[in-house]
Amino acid sequence: MPDRTNTLLIGTSNAGKVRELRQLLHGWRLLTLADFPAVQPPAETGETFEDNAALKARYYAAHTGLWALADDSGLEVEALGGAPGVHSARYAGAGATDAENVAKLLAELQRTDDPERRGRFVCVIAIASPAGRTWLFRGACEGRIAHAPRGQGGFGYDPIFIPEGESRTFGELSAEEKQQRSHRARALAQARAFLLSLSDAAAR
Ligand code: IMP
Repeated sequence: MPDRTNTLLIGTSNAGKVRELRQLLHGWRLLTLADFPAVQPPAETGETFEDNAALKARYYAAHTGLWALADDSGLEVEALGGAPGVHSARYAGAGATDAENVAKLLAELQRTDDPERRGRFVCVIAIASPAGRTWLFRGACEGRIAHAPRGQGGFGYDPIFIPEGESRTFGELSAEEKQQRSHRARALAQARAFLLSLSDAAAR
């Protein structure tokens, strides 16, 4: 079990992820990187979502002595060979804004002439113990890419992602509607079940 107070560090500085993870992890005492201002983020040098999620969770657990949860996620677009993928946060360059990344994606996809515009959001959640053990959980959400941004909700690529079975983008859905089908909610449901099984085992 993380510890007797069920304390978990959320190892991300992305405000959109923190907001969604908080909503999905009710019942846990959550600390964030704002509680550890001296801890700088690690370089995300992995080539897969799994590599990056694990390296972040291990790093934050080692630097805080807490159980840590990290999220590595992104958008894979079929006509772009899976790009932007693990590079989603910096697709339009280091320090790019969400709007710049969205504009670059729409321009690249336009060039392919692909009428299907299929893509998927992927989220890998890693949980790390202070001793350095890690566990990984993956969730995905299939969909297609809109021709222009729509909606003010969410973050990142939400305004151009239409989940399967919907006509609205994630940006047009409420937070609750997004959580019902999102890649993050799917990965986190597995992570929550794992954490609860650890707590149960420790209580026995
Ligand atoms: P990283 O996991 O910190 O490398 O960055 C993930 C990037 O993928 C974010 O900065 C967003 O651009 C994008 N992303 C991940 N999850 C979502 C989501 O739920 N909605 C929209 N964009 C997302």
